[in-house]
Amino acid sequence: MLKKITIKDLKPGMFVHQILEQKGQLSVKSQGRVTSQAIADALKKKGVLTLVVDTDKAFSVSSGEPEPNKEAPVSKKVAEKAPKASLESELTRATKLHVQGKRIQKQLLSSVKKAQPFDSSIPKEFSAKLVSSVDRNPDALLCLTKIREKDDYLLEHSLNVAILLANFGRHLGMSESEVQDLSYSGFLHDLGKIQIPDEILHKPDRLTDDEMDIMKGHVKHGIDYLNETDLDKTLIRTISEHHERLDGLGYPMGTKGENISREGRMLAIADMYDALTADRVYKSGMSSQKAFSILLSDAPSRLDLPLVQQFIKCMGIYPVGSLVLLSNERLAMVIEQTDSPLAPKVKVFYSVRNAHFLEPKDIDLASEKNVKVSKAAIASDYKIDVNAFFERLVSIG
Ligand SMILES: [Fe+2]
Repeated sequence: MLKKITIKDLKPGMFVHQILEQKGQLSVKSQGRVTSQAIADALKKKGVLTLVVDTDKAFSVSSGEPEPNKEAPVSKKVAEKAPKASLESELTRATKLHVQGKRIQKQLLSSVKKAQPFDSSIPKEFSAKLVSSVDRNPDALLCLTKIREKDDYLLEHSLNVAILLANFGRHLGMSESEVQDLSYSGFLHDLGKIQIPDEILHKPDRLTDDEMDIMKGHVKHGIDYLNETDLDKTLIRTISEHHERLDGLGYPMGTKGENISREGRMLAIADMYDALTADRVYKSGMSSQKAFSILLSDAPSRLDLPLVQQFIKCMGIYPVGSLVLLSNERLAMVIEQTDSPLAPKVKVFYSVRNAHFLEPKDIDLASEKNVKVSKAAIASDYKIDVNAFFERLVSIG
């Protein structure tokens, strides 16, 4: 089981899964056994503040042998030891899940519109399946966040935020149930938008002050509806906070700083990132790098800086699913992060020079010396239909 701890709680016999927060610039190896108090002290000296330990890999210091963790539930242990599914096999499952997610989201929005109750077991069960897919191979659903049907923004945005939060929660070492709740809150966070008139919701130009007031009402519409359901109050709180900002200038309550829950802050980051990178009917989404710089410019005054930094770390400089232009004038989709943040594993699929699709080919840029990423790319700059590419990719897989 992955568990977040502060440096003062790090003891010999623990297995460090990941360094979460660190002062200073010294690079610290992120994984390994803490075989002595001296190692724990050295990490503290290097400025490590919080970290994630894997309790399943705890070991006896005297023998150095792994010690089974009696607290970890058996099913969870088995799940964590399961080998990572291949991207191709998980893509097939994730594609079905993606379609199912949009269908459930559509039903939910319809229930909210008609003020009818919904069976909460359906979206809850769906969120659990989504987290399971992320556990098997996080890259499959992340790739699918790039599929955008121009008229389905509302459906896809909530689904994407749920996917981003499942990854973010896992990255931070949150427990299975915490990640499921977080992802579930992402899936439900914008239900109130169905009550906003289309001409305001989809207005390409800047909203007037009056229109903005109507738009801001979506949080209350959603919460009013959810309060009538059996949804856990903690989740309702997280959802209610997705437009709150640390400086108190967010809405609807103007909640400040520490009064905004960690989950609410995480939802705010994932919500903004997806909104910035999404293609809309009237404009193309921005690159992940541009979106990251906007998130960073909103921190620490409005967004939680350590969480923004962790989110960027979780997504990677070139996030899975994003497009990159390679030095050989070919376009590729990032399909997996490697230990080299600037050299991910990619699927090459398009020749810019000849303006035609290629037979998809995987390249690990970390071990390929002759090709590197020239820059991040946006499909619309090359008039590429990413959806068509995906259909091809999934059918090949
Ligand atoms: Fe919202």
